[in-house]
Amino acid sequence: MQEKIIILDFGSQTTQLIGRRVRELNVYCEIVPYNKFPQGDASVKGVILSGSPFSVYDESAFKIDLNEIRGKYPILGICYGAQFIAYTNGGKVEPAGSREYGRAHLASFDKNNVLFKGVKENTQVWMSHGDTITAIPESFKTIASTDKVKIAAYQVEGEKMWGVQFHPEVFHSEDGTQMLKNFVVEVCGCRQDWSAASFIETTVAQLKEQLGDDKVVLGLSGGVDSSVAAVLLNRAIGKNLTCIFVDHGMLRKDEFKNVLHDYECLGLNVIGVDASAKFFAELAGVTEPEKKRKIIGKGFIDVFDEEAHKIKDVKWLAQGTIYPDCIESLSITGTVIKSHHNVGGLPEKMNLKLCEPLRLLFKDEVRRVGRELGMPEHLITRHPFPGPGLAVRILGDITPEKVSILQDADDIFIQGLRNWKVKDAGGNETTLYHQVWQAGVILLPVQSVGVMGDERTYERAVALRAVTSTDAMTADWAHLPYEFLGKVSNDIINKVKGVNRVTYDISSKPPSTIEWE
Ligand code: XMP
Repeated sequence: MQEKIIILDFGSQTTQLIGRRVRELNVYCEIVPYNKFPQGDASVKGVILSGSPFSVYDESAFKIDLNEIRGKYPILGICYGAQFIAYTNGGKVEPAGSREYGRAHLASFDKNNVLFKGVKENTQVWMSHGDTITAIPESFKTIASTDKVKIAAYQVEGEKMWGVQFHPEVFHSEDGTQMLKNFVVEVCGCRQDWSAASFIETTVAQLKEQLGDDKVVLGLSGGVDSSVAAVLLNRAIGKNLTCIFVDHGMLRKDEFKNVLHDYECLGLNVIGVDASAKFFAELAGVTEPEKKRKIIGKGFIDVFDEEAHKIKDVKWLAQGTIYPDCIESLSITGTVIKSHHNVGGLPEKMNLKLCEPLRLLFKDEVRRVGRELGMPEHLITRHPFPGPGLAVRILGDITPEKVSILQDADDIFIQGLRNWKVKDAGGNETTLYHQVWQAGVILLPVQSVGVMGDERTYERAVALRAVTSTDAMTADWAHLPYEFLGKVSNDIINKVKGVNRVTYDISSKPPSTIEWE
């Protein structure tokens, strides 16, 4: 049985981070809404209560009956979680004099407490709270303090229940991972045997049982998630899996051909469909970004549906949905605002059962599984690419000629990033491509004057976009070397007919978005 830690989500922005940290310890965990504890699940080894945007004394604050888990599992409350445990046991929680945010140090802590095993003196922790615990019940013992926060951590005496005011899951809490490890390994007794290899073994066995001799279709996009899902399913059910890869004409230069070749080398049963003429016809004259998206989304479903119907007796639709798409996020009213996100409305249209083998994995775990499955590194480390492709990077209407110009400029930029060697923070050799989250070129709807040789030109301008990010929710523009930008600019202007000006986008997200449309 796969043992697990349950993280009860009270709506904090860092709840997913807690999950990632625990998984990095090779311990499996699941994030569930605060009021959906899986009662009776024998594989649960411990519970973590997350932070929250609420104060414990708010009338609408998220509350649970602690007695349902107390004494049955070890419990660790983080921030609001710690305040909630203290408050509901008769402690006092009050607004902090000033909101405490940022770095702090544990000026003193109980070195003999298991939670602090291996933690260095005066360790830095990350605080982010408007309230603070000012008094704890008699049966609680303060086990750590900072200069400003007397009750920075406590343990309930004689019980396996702790509370920490700071956020051990945040990178800036230097020994935060060690503390989480102490909780999940030393206290909860988790074995740390959750790994890419163990995931593959159990998932392949589950898929075999779930799917039997049924036939499955899967839409490949060229991206890492759908590709890993396909290879995993292929290992479980082989030729009963048919993959469909649709070219809507807005992919990168040679991408359809190259990725199709990669898929075939991986032994996948894959049908490549060139539907670009249909998409170009439907997109002609359309300039409004959301309309472009709708046309491509619907066109994709139609093509996929038509191809899938050519295969007899298909019962399942497989998708590369990953964990961040599935976690039920809570709105401030306590209602679940995202219970499930499935791509493009396909399942409804096709009346097939849904199979999502990666639905419990974070993105970095998907990559690890891909490596373990022996997939080529260039498929695993590919940048994200939007479903509508270059259509949302051509401002204004789309024509095959504009797509071709953009493909050439984009290819120079991407290959340039791949070829430019740099050292990472640890001194290891890498490339600019691997250092940025995502990059691409945007074709602007302006022309400007230039001079080439003795000729006056009046041609298009493009913008280069490269960002660093961890989840695409926020992003910073990548500080690429000037020398590199200069070379790419030169190469594009000299080699791509129709472009005489290159700009670099230095906007962060928010307020800008990664894509221009
Ligand atoms: P934005 O532009 O919203 O992009 O900052 C965030 C991430 O989402 C990708 N993106 C899309 N992906 N269909 C997709 O499948 C879309 O319509 C779409 N729009 C944006 C974008 O490339 C980035 O990774």
